[in-house]
Amino acid sequence: MTIYVIANQKGGVGKTTLSTNLAVALSKKGKTTLVDGDDQQSSIKWSKRRLQDSITTIALKDNLKEELQQLKQNNKYIVLDVAGRDSAEFRSALLTADVLIIPTQPSQTDIEVLPFVLRLVNTAKQVNKNLKTFVVLNKAPTNNKSTEIDAALELLQQVKSVKTLNTILRDRKQFRDAMIEGKSVLEMGSSKAKDELNEFLVEIL
Ligand SMILES: Nc1ncnc2c1ncn2[C@@H]1O[C@H](COP(=O)(O)OP(=O)(O)OP(=O)(O)O)[C@@H](O)[C@H]1O
Ligand SMILES: [Mg+2]
Repeated sequence: MTIYVIANQKGGVGKTTLSTNLAVALSKKGKTTLVDGDDQQSSIKWSKRRLQDSITTIALKDNLKEELQQLKQNNKYIVLDVAGRDSAEFRSALLTADVLIIPTQPSQTDIEVLPFVLRLVNTAKQVNKNLKTFVVLNKAPTNNKSTEIDAALELLQQVKSVKTLNTILRDRKQFRDAMIEGKSVLEMGSSKAKDELNEFLVEIL
């Protein structure tokens, strides 16, 4: 039983994209439930566009702790997509999760938010000692001449206490298409997006 939480206090960084793609990957290995903790219900909407379903997608109700306790009994994996802000659900999720994945865009303004998130993570770790935390760059420019990624990695080096994945997920149309079609990029034709997602999975699973 493993609980993955995908979170960041920033909006639009790829939390739902990573949650849905991760849930599809995990569902090939065992029963997986995707929990949508965001009022905007992007994960729920994605699941409604899905034709085949190996994944149960549910909206988070009131009590996250109770809900996760119940889900733990008959799932091998739980993926929780939380809202892009500090919230009671986010704090509660940090206390129960096994793995926290924080997607971030490589811009300085996005990375400057991370210390705020990590402060909450460090507090949670005093109770949830085994919480693994990873930061992953997402929507990174595909242009190799861009210096933005190097600048971001340099800033991230200064953010101690968290591992930045080697995988860099770039801005690829296939991630957007997959979302619209209710799929994971794993279920689409071969692409750089799929390669990058696979590389990401090797690092976190
Ligand atoms: N690697 C990527 N390449 C291209 N587009 C991406 C990528 N990751 C996410 N997107 C697109 O960026 C937008 C925001 O992504 P997503 O909805 O996953 O972010 P979010 O963090 O869940 O946002 P919110 O805070 O609103 O919940 C979506 O249109 C999504 O398709
Ligand atoms: Mg979202």
